[in-house]
Amino acid sequence: MTYDVDAIRADFPILSRQVNGRDLVYLDNGASAQKPQVVIDAVTAGYSQEYANVHRGLHYLSNLATDKYEAVRGKIATFLNAPSEDHIIFNSGTTEGINMVSYAWAAPRMQAGDEIILSIMEHHANIVPWHFLRERLGVKLVWVDVDERGDLDPQRVLDAITSKTKLIAITHTSNVLGTVVDVKAITEGAHAQGVPVLVDGSQAAVHAPVDVSDIGCDFYAITGHKLYGPSGSGAIYVHPDRMDEMQPFLGGGDMIKEVHRDTVTWNSAPMKFEAGTPGIVQQIGLGVALDYLMDLGMENVARHEADLRDYTNSRLSGLNWVTVQGNSDNKAAIFSMTMDGVGHAHDLSTILDKQGIAIRAGHHCAQPLMQHFGVTATARASFGLYNSKAEVDKLIEGLEFCHELFG
Ligand code: ALA
Repeated sequence: MTYDVDAIRADFPILSRQVNGRDLVYLDNGASAQKPQVVIDAVTAGYSQEYANVHRGLHYLSNLATDKYEAVRGKIATFLNAPSEDHIIFNSGTTEGINMVSYAWAAPRMQAGDEIILSIMEHHANIVPWHFLRERLGVKLVWVDVDERGDLDPQRVLDAITSKTKLIAITHTSNVLGTVVDVKAITEGAHAQGVPVLVDGSQAAVHAPVDVSDIGCDFYAITGHKLYGPSGSGAIYVHPDRMDEMQPFLGGGDMIKEVHRDTVTWNSAPMKFEAGTPGIVQQIGLGVALDYLMDLGMENVARHEADLRDYTNSRLSGLNWVTVQGNSDNKAAIFSMTMDGVGHAHDLSTILDKQGIAIRAGHHCAQPLMQHFGVTATARASFGLYNSKAEVDKLIEGLEFCHELFG
């Protein structure tokens, strides 16, 4: 298939707007991605023509909304190559998914002295839920560093396993460095020692095909708003053995079978873990976004973004006053930078913004990684499926302008 980036860009209405009098160059996809018209239309139709609560009513609109909403479970299973849609729990995104695992699976099974292995490049969403267990139960967090290139050696993770290890919680792709982690090797090695593995797939699922059956992991969390779907949508794949071990976390409607004065029984999984009225239209919009991605083909998206990554690398290598954090051979098109002479990454971001270029500056919700690299903040350009080489050139021009400005 020819990857027609101009045609793809035309699917995303926001990309044709201007910001600060300049054509928008949107390079903040790591924070959140823009939405194609089909997703916007699905959300509009969801509220203007098809809205009612799900799983509750017997009327036409409730059945319609339920059918559309439930159909997304199968799309997510297909997108992740999960064996069954019954292994997919809906939620509002990766943060909720990992918190659910912390409360529903880990907390009831762990005690003081048990260990959870994390890499130093985890997002706070895959750190703070484990800090809860450290604070409340006395669980120990064991950190594995990346090397100077930002690579994580799977063997170093496996070497950190002890008889106390109860879980490895690891990102598939760093939101700061772009490093892609060999989560399959980690899972195989961990399972050989009886240790389950949770994968934070928030960034990875956006850039390349994901196959949870091949990885073999126990949990795989994704976020809808980074996958070109609505914010507040998402899911986590849970291996059936772990699903059986989980206790309900949020209590309320939909997750129960019967409630009496003195007893309560649970709905079957996955609904046992989905209490309350969910993000109905958001989730339907996510289904449309996944259809869009699967029509494009995630292999094609990955190839296009690899091309952008290589081109960006070659252009950045000409700027000896820019330092890029992490230069793994296996990385997504995510570039975290600091620039000589520029005191704070926020200044860089503000100046680029004046030229219509949107990037993120700060600690990127990954403070342990910032501490590891000895910086407080970086400026991050993160690419998506609609970005072009012309936009890479604009980024480079913007960086050159900043360099001249700060002299
Ligand atoms: N996790 C998002 C980011 O990396 C918000 O920017």
